[in-house]
Amino acid sequence: MIHKAVIPAAGLGTRFLPVTKSMPKEMLPIIDKPVIHYVVEEAVKSGIDDIIIITGRGKRAIEDYFDTAPELEMRLKNQHNTDALSRLQEISEFPTIHYVRQKEPHGLGDAILKSENHIGNEPFAVLLGDDIISNATPCTAQMASVFSRFRSSVISVEHVPREKISSYGIIQGNAIEPDLMRVENIVEKPAPENAPSDIGAVGRYIFVPEIFDCLKKTRPGVGNEIQLTDAIQILLKDHPVYACKFSGRRYDTGDKLGYIKTIIDYALDDPQIQKELRHYLDQRLTR
Ligand code: UTP
Repeated sequence: MIHKAVIPAAGLGTRFLPVTKSMPKEMLPIIDKPVIHYVVEEAVKSGIDDIIIITGRGKRAIEDYFDTAPELEMRLKNQHNTDALSRLQEISEFPTIHYVRQKEPHGLGDAILKSENHIGNEPFAVLLGDDIISNATPCTAQMASVFSRFRSSVISVEHVPREKISSYGIIQGNAIEPDLMRVENIVEKPAPENAPSDIGAVGRYIFVPEIFDCLKKTRPGVGNEIQLTDAIQILLKDHPVYACKFSGRRYDTGDKLGYIKTIIDYALDDPQIQKELRHYLDQRLTR
């Protein structure tokens, strides 16, 4: 029932400078696939068939990645390298991806607003291009089922450690089921002592199209950026919003430590390298 998804990927990635000077952080590899591959895969597994990625300057590598590569495929075919070929074909099986540029990185809210013409008047999902959430039932699918029950916007949330509260949009809400809350308020990056809870919004959302009007009313906030959180606050005045504690493990690959943890976990799950990696880590940690 949710067919369209927006993947914002136009941020500057300053926490990863200097590598992000010439490479999008969404293209950082998790072994052999870039972060954004997993994000698109989650959308597709959740039934999304129309994807729009918000890009910006220096983000061409994302478009090239999802494009077909006929010469490369032909070369691999001639070399009978079926293994590499099938890994490439996995990408061609994704639905067509559309791109819209955000000329200046004025914030996540501004990035989402750039998708308005493409989304039109229907509910849609947002998946942040640097957040991977791994679970058998994809997080976006879990949220889509909440949307189909309440026909209202849904934010994915998780408990965040106190020292990280000031990096998140923090919600205040009333529990209606063990893993579901009705949101009363949301505050962008509060100081821990002023935060209404320790429950933070993470990188998956489903919105009713009215969010676009709210984004247009939103003035620059924290960091002089158009904050999605501020638009959600406006949305809350007339529309219910739910917060879903999803099942799954979230990796914030836009953060250095988060990125390293992602690689380690995926490598430890990779049958080709897990054994030797375990051996190496054991040796390394007991040295
Ligand atoms: P972040 O705040 O994590 O990205 O945004 P950032 O601004 O690139 O990070 P740092 O702090 O400078 O390291 C979450 C997602 O929203 C996108 C980013 O690309 C990322 O995938 N984003 C952010 C935009 O598309 N446009 C923006 O103006 C800001």
